[in-house]
Amino acid sequence: MKVTVNRKAHFNAAHRLYRPEWTDEKNLAVFGKCSNPNYHGHNYDLVVSVTGEVDPITGFVMDMKVLKNLIKTEIEDAFDHKNLNVEVPEFNETGLNPTSENIVVVIYNKLRPRIDAKHHLKVTLYETPRNFVSYSGA
Ligand code: NI
Repeated sequence: MKVTVNRKAHFNAAHRLYRPEWTDEKNLAVFGKCSNPNYHGHNYDLVVSVTGEVDPITGFVMDMKVLKNLIKTEIEDAFDHKNLNVEVPEFNETGLNPTSENIVVVIYNKLRPRIDAKHHLKVTLYETPRNFVSYSGA
């Protein structure tokens, strides 16, 4: 019997989407308001979903306190009230554009090694209430 447990989390972060080799005009055409050179913020909502067998002794798939703390230390502490382009190594050291697609993959890659390999992991990231992305590896 496999069940999915879900934990919601939240962080505020600033970003700018741009290619440094492009003109401001081309960046505006491709990335719209998200190319604003002075950065801007989003209220990101996150859903972390872990699927696995229900342990017959505890009745848990995984301990939600553990999942809550993992999301806090790995994601919220790293991203909340940060400028993703400037302050977060996964973006500033690589030049990776902090799009929702790239952020959700970064989050997945940070959590995956810390969740039991026998569990399936899926991460869903909302950049706005209507725009969201999800990633579950590969
Ligand atoms: Ni944006």
